[in-house]
Amino acid sequence: MKVTGIVGSPRKDGSTSELVSAVLAGAESNGAETQTFNLNELDITPCQSCYYCKENGKCKYEDDYVEIVKALDESDVFVIGSPVYFGEVTAQLKHFIDRLYSVVNNQGINNTKLVLVHVQANPDASLYEGYIEHQKNMLYGYCGFDIVDSIQAYGIPEKEDLSTNKTFLEKAKEIGSNL
Ligand SMILES: Cc1cc2nc3c(=O)[nH]c(=O)nc-3n(C[C@H](O)[C@H](O)[C@H](O)COP(=O)(O)O)c2cc1C
Repeated sequence: MKVTGIVGSPRKDGSTSELVSAVLAGAESNGAETQTFNLNELDITPCQSCYYCKENGKCKYEDDYVEIVKALDESDVFVIGSPVYFGEVTAQLKHFIDRLYSVVNNQGINNTKLVLVHVQANPDASLYEGYIEHQKNMLYGYCGFDIVDSIQAYGIPEKEDLSTNKTFLEKAKEIGSNL
């Protein structure tokens, strides 16, 4: 089994990264092969709405997204994580999402399993539930992912808070080992 992590936080070693890594570690404990893309470190041109992909079978931009498309073809599971920024995902993850358009319009995403990770400082779990549900159904479900599990870590302003409240890290590892 091949599992690919996508980290949407600009913090390479922040709480999103820690939770995505925990899911991957759980999967590795069952023999999975894993890799991680830190979007903030990659050169990913935002979608330019040129519709080149509709005519030509692929996106016009041969930047680092090419590697992500390859990973989508080869992976059994994607683990996509982002901190909540002003009630939504980060700009880095939004660029990733918009570029999925070229995949959805061509080879498609054929039930690649998906684990979603959201991290927020606010301790109120219900605050962004509507947004996250919308993302699951109207975005990832629509694109063709098979959402198998998700974590919404709340009350986590800093990575250290994941050590104080171990529930989320434990859940992440368990999800990974159940993949
Ligand atoms: C620009 C910015 C906007 C944020 N907006 C929110 C928000 O709307 N709600 C919230 O609960 N936390 C918000 N946060 C806090 C982060 O979601 C939180 O600190 C998270 O743990 C950061 O994850 P990371 O370490 O992976 O970057 C915001 C942080 C930043 C830098």
